[in-house]
This record gives sequence, C-alpha cells and structure tokens, in this order.
Amino acid sequence: MAEKSEVAKLRSLAQLDADAVGAYDAAIARVNEPLVRERLNDFRVDHVRHVQDLNALIQQRGGEPVGLRPDLKGTAMKGLTAVTSMMGTEAALVAMLGNEEFTNRAYELALQFDWSPGVRSLIQRNREDEFRHVTWIRAAVRTRPWLREGAKAAEGSDIQA
Ligand SMILES: [Fe+2]
Ligand SMILES: [Fe+2]
Repeated sequence: MAEKSEVAKLRSLAQLDADAVGAYDAAIARVNEPLVRERLNDFRVDHVRHVQDLNALIQQRGGEPVGLRPDLKGTAMKGLTAVTSMMGTEAALVAMLGNEEFTNRAYELALQFDWSPGVRSLIQRNREDEFRHVTWIRAAVRTRPWLREGAKAAEGSDIQA
C-alpha cells in the first residue's frame, strides 16, 4: 500500500516534468534571443531527464511510465496556455517563471513525503535543478539581459576599448 502510493506520487511528479517540457517547447518557440534560448533549452533537457529518471523508478516498482506528452487537462502548468497565446521573450519568461515557481513548490512538497531509500536522493537532485531554473528565470525577468545585449550592439564602436 505504501508502495502503491509512492508510485502514484512518482507518476504525478513525472507528469509535472512532462508538462514542463511542453511549456518549454512553447516558450522556446517564442524566444529569439540566443542567450535566452540556450538557457531555456538547457532547462528543457533537465526536465526530459527528470521524466526519464522518475520513469526508471516507476518501472522498477511495477508502475506505468509517464509519456513526454503534456497533460493539457491538468491544471498543473497553467502558464503553458499563457506561453502559446502571448508573444515575445519577456512574456514567455514571465509565463515560465510562474510554471517554475509551481514546479519548485511541488518538489518542495514532495520532499516532505517519506520516500524509500534511493528515491529521495533523485527527488532532491531534481529539486536542485528546479531551484537553478527558477533562480535564473527570475533574474532574467528582472535584468532583461537581452536588452543589454541589444544596447551594447547599438552603442557599437563608441563603447569599445
Ligand atoms: Fe523538472
Ligand atoms: Fe524547471
């Protein structure tokens, strides 16, 4: 019984990560700045790995693995809809900030669960990735590094050396 509830919890975390992959796909399609795209792509790769690693544990425990398709019926990733309907880098990042805050809370709550040995360390590692994601996106929304890049290019030779 405890075993079954652990698999169910692992599956809901894996679905959350699969939803995040879908949200990153939508966000990356809206962003042109290479610096931001590269970061978002790194974060997307982390989420794909989270799904794969969680699936391995789910299958070891006789559970059904979660596919990489986002569950659009779910309420988990509200910003997914926001990203697809909004334009531009800043809007995409603001939507992803909301998604990452949600994911971070979910992982924080997950850490309160009494996981079996070996599972907990994966949840902890994933949670550290999520913290990196939300920290970078929060700073990017605040400092808008893509505007600074544009400004530097516009100022051109006056600024150099
Ligand atoms: Fe993740
Ligand atoms: Fe994340």
